[in-house]
Amino acid sequence: MGETAKVSFGGTSVELPILKGTDGPAVVDIRKLYAEADVFTYDPGFTSTASCESKITFIDGDKGVLLHRGYPIDQLAEKSSFLEVCYLLLNGELPNAKEFETFQHNITYHTMLHDQFDRFFAGFRRDAHPMAIMVGAVGALSSFYHDSTNVEDPEQRIISSHRLIAKMPTIAARAFKYFKGQPFVHPRNDLSFSENFLRMCFSVPAEDWKPNPVLTRAMDRIFILHADHEQNASTSTVRLAGSSGANPFACIAAGIACLWGPSHGGANEEALNMLAEIGSVENIPEYVQGVKDRRYRLMGFGHRVYKNYDPRAKVMQQTCHEVLAEVGHSDDPLLKIAIELEKIALNDPYFVERKLYPNVDFYSGITLRALGFPPEMFTVLFALARTVGWISQWKEMIEDPAQKIGRPRQIYTGAAQRDYVAVDKR
Ligand code: CMC
Repeated sequence: MGETAKVSFGGTSVELPILKGTDGPAVVDIRKLYAEADVFTYDPGFTSTASCESKITFIDGDKGVLLHRGYPIDQLAEKSSFLEVCYLLLNGELPNAKEFETFQHNITYHTMLHDQFDRFFAGFRRDAHPMAIMVGAVGALSSFYHDSTNVEDPEQRIISSHRLIAKMPTIAARAFKYFKGQPFVHPRNDLSFSENFLRMCFSVPAEDWKPNPVLTRAMDRIFILHADHEQNASTSTVRLAGSSGANPFACIAAGIACLWGPSHGGANEEALNMLAEIGSVENIPEYVQGVKDRRYRLMGFGHRVYKNYDPRAKVMQQTCHEVLAEVGHSDDPLLKIAIELEKIALNDPYFVERKLYPNVDFYSGITLRALGFPPEMFTVLFALARTVGWISQWKEMIEDPAQKIGRPRQIYTGAAQRDYVAVDKR
């Protein structure tokens, strides 16, 4: 037996194996702890718990490193495309030219939605938040594609993965168009993934829509930056939902629901709202004081894993400048507030001591707004991009022989057993 950790409790001593991955902290394998020592571990929020083995994404939060299948995020953002990153996450390797061509064809030819699907949107209130539409509409995919919901069949798992990656932009664009009260725009097979998405969002029947290569590249890079992030809350939700054998469309809908929260994907919307609320550079010190007095949090700051600059935030900041320059908004007052706020926070002991740095959401709101999206769409774009991460992690889980239904335990602190009391005696 290799290295072990010993746990002694109530006269029982258990030797627990230590597992080592390619990188990252060693892991104490506690699987036999309950059976041998009749004791649980307690870790709300999973701050010290590895919930699975994975070969997809690695984060070193202290060094600010993010790797997908071993490739650094900044290299992927600079040199790759979102679809190529999708292939990489799903299949484990970068595709050769032929593999990429086939993959691109598969995704492109799955972008259309079943015609009846469009009637679904009309059921939502006109002012429905696009994320509310996403949660419902993506779950509804399971009622349209019965031929790819058998999770035991590897072929069906691939088809449902391709369908989800391909149809998310079409659904997201429809959620946006419905929110704006404009007619739906159908996908076109001669356009790239991101070009097609921007066209479905921004073209109107009354005029021709011309792609802008700088903005298309920025959109693609934003998708790359959000593609996967290891065992975050929404990914863990997808894995947990999938562990019961639920179909992939339902599992992704569960992931979208979790992503919506302001501590997770909802932070990009909240970060932009916060900058707007601050209003001007002069108001920053008062706002920062409010954060220190714990009246509110600095949105787009802090991360459970990164205790150094989020590597995605660096690329996002650069993309933000490029987009603002392209659309002629380099003097965007919100950008000025963000830059100043970042400078003040990074030098303030409150933030330094707690290792709070800007995360990916700090600059994404300003960038997405410059691309033409309202704040309500920001988390939808995150969901669109994260779908490939969710589905890759879901597939890895289903294909893992050690996979079991997720079933945590608890410390019960409620009432001890007692007898029922009739209503007239209470
Ligand atoms: N502003 C002010 N203080 C903060 C913040 C913040 N954004 N984040 C953490 N802290 C403080 C917190 O009050 C605590 O201080 P103390 O030790 O004195 O009580 C300390 O830092 C540790 O905080 P925590 O809540 O234990 O940290 P966590 O790992 O549970 O939370 C987080 C991580 C992302 C939920 C949190 O940093 C946060 O709420 N950030 C703002 C929301 C946000 O930007 N979320 C997007 C995350 S990146 C995109 C994604 O993956 O979804």
